[in-house]
Amino acid sequence: ARIRHYKWEVKYEYKSQDCYKKLAITINGRTPGPTIEAQVNDTVVVELKNSLLTENVAIHWHGIRQKGTPWFDGTGGVTQCPIVPGDTFVYKFVVDRPGTYLYHAHYGLQREAGLNGMIRVSLPPGESEPYTYDHDRSILLTDWYHQSTYEQSTGLSSLPFVWVGEPQSLLIHGKGKFDCSTPGLKAGLCNATNPECSSPYVITVVPGKTYRLRIGSLTSLAALSFEIEGHNMTVVEADGHNVEPFVVKNLFIYSGETYSVLIKADQAPTRNYWAVSKIVSRESTTPNGLAIFNYYPNHPRRSPPTVPPVGPAWNDVASRLTQGEAMKARQGYILPPPQTSDRVIVMLNTQNEINGYRRWSVNNISYNLPDTPYLIAVKDRLNHVFDQTPPPDRYDSQNYDIFSKRNNTNATASSSIYKLQFNSTVDIILQNANTMIPNNSETHPWHLHGHDFWVIGYGQGKFDINSDPKKYNLVDPIMKNTVSVQPYGWTALRFVADNPGVWAFHCHIEAHFYLGMGVVFEEGVEMLGRYPTSITGCGDTKGYRRP
Ligand code: C2O
Ligand code: CU
Repeated sequence: ARIRHYKWEVKYEYKSQDCYKKLAITINGRTPGPTIEAQVNDTVVVELKNSLLTENVAIHWHGIRQKGTPWFDGTGGVTQCPIVPGDTFVYKFVVDRPGTYLYHAHYGLQREAGLNGMIRVSLPPGESEPYTYDHDRSILLTDWYHQSTYEQSTGLSSLPFVWVGEPQSLLIHGKGKFDCSTPGLKAGLCNATNPECSSPYVITVVPGKTYRLRIGSLTSLAALSFEIEGHNMTVVEADGHNVEPFVVKNLFIYSGETYSVLIKADQAPTRNYWAVSKIVSRESTTPNGLAIFNYYPNHPRRSPPTVPPVGPAWNDVASRLTQGEAMKARQGYILPPPQTSDRVIVMLNTQNEINGYRRWSVNNISYNLPDTPYLIAVKDRLNHVFDQTPPPDRYDSQNYDIFSKRNNTNATASSSIYKLQFNSTVDIILQNANTMIPNNSETHPWHLHGHDFWVIGYGQGKFDINSDPKKYNLVDPIMKNTVSVQPYGWTALRFVADNPGVWAFHCHIEAHFYLGMGVVFEEGVEMLGRYPTSITGCGDTKGYRRP
C-alpha cells in the first residue's frame, strides 16, 4: 500500500461556473477540487491550508468509514474543531474499500460554495471488478446558487425566515450555463462568452467502447435525474458497493450518493449527444444542466443536432421508488445483514417552528451542534458541554398524522446524542411527513458517517412497527451510506455499530442539516486511543490539556 500525499489550499476566488460571477470556495484554484485517486489500503494524506481569510473550514471524506481514525472524519463540531484561517490541518486515513466516494466541506453552508470533489479507490493490480469496461470516467453533479453562504445562512436563521429557494443553475462537473439575458441582473456580473462557461462540460468517447461513468451528487438541495440522450446505462455500483446490474434510461441520484454506470458508445458515431441533469421531487424553475457526450472524432464543442431530452416528470415518485426497488446486492459481494436487530429507532422527520424560527426536527428535536466537538467531549467526559438527556427512540405514532400540516409546538432544540452499544445491530426507520405547507412532503437523502447500512425496506405512508418489519428484505439488500426517504414514505435501514467514534447521521440537503435535521451516534469511544491534539482548540478545548 502506498501513501498518497495531497497539498491543498482552500480559498475564495471569483468564479463564473455558470457565467455568473460569484465567490466560490476552491481547492488549489479549482471547483470541483482534484479527484483523489488511490488503491485499496492506501493511506491518503491531505495537508489542508485554510486560506479563507475570515472563515473556518473542515472537510468530510464522504463514504470513507475512518476505521480507527474517527478524528479525521472532518465533521466540524462532531469530530474536530474547525480549522481556523491561516492554519494547516493534516487529514490522514486509509481507504479500505474500492469504489466511488466524495469529499466536501462540513462546516456551515460551505459545501454549496463549491468545496467538493470525488474519491476513486481502485482494486489492487491483478484483481478486477465483476464487470468489464474500457475506460473509467467521473463526473460530479451539483446545483449552484448565486447568493453567498452568508446571505443564505443569515436568511435561514432570521425572523422572518428566508428560504434559499431553488438553485439558479445545475452544474455538471463544475460547469453550467445561466441565462445572462435574465432581466434585473447587475451589469458586468454575467458574461455568456466567459471561457469558464461558454462551452458545456464534455465527456469524450470512442465509438464501440464501453465506459464506466462514476456519477456523484453533492447538490445542496436538488434531487436529480441524469441521462445521456439515446444511451442506456447499466448500474453496477452504488455508494462503493456492487449491485446486481440493472438498466436505466435515466438515473435518479440524491445528494450524497454515488453510482457507477456502464455506457456503451453504440449510437450513430457521426454526431454528439446531450447529457442532461434535471431536478426532480421539487417543482423547480431551474433549467436543466447540460453536457456534451462527444463521439470522437466529432468536434467536442459541436452541439448535438437535437433538442435535449426533457427528462422524467418532477413528481413521478413511482419511477424513483422503482429504481430503489431494482437495486439488489450483487451475489457474492455483499453479505446479508444480521437477521435480527438489538434496537429500533424510529425517526419522524418534520418541519417545525421554535420560538418562531423555522427548523427541521427528528422526533420533535431539532439538532444544535455544541461548541466543543463530541469526540473530545465524550472521550474526556466533558459532560457539561452537551445535553445529557438522550433523544427519544420513538415519536408518538398513535397520535401523529403524517399527512396533515402540524405545527409541532412542542419541538425543542438539543445537542443530545444517541449512545449505541458497541457491536449492536441497530435499525433506523426514517419516517417522512407533511411539512408546514398543506399537502406537501419533501424528499430527504439521509447520510450516515462511519458506516454503511443495509437498506432493508421502503414503504408509503406511516410505518407500522408490527407488520412492516415482516416485509423487510434480509436476503439481498444493498449497502449504502446515503438513502432517500420519499414524500409521505418511510425507509428502514440496519447497521452494526462496530466503529468506535462519534458519527453524524443527517439529511444531506445542506439547509436542512443547518436547520437541525440530523442526529449523532456514539459507540465505543472508550476503546479509542489518544486523539491527535490537532482536533482541539475550540469551545472548552482552547489551550487544552487532556484531563
Ligand atoms: Cu456528505 Cu455529513 O455529509
Ligand atoms: Cu432534508
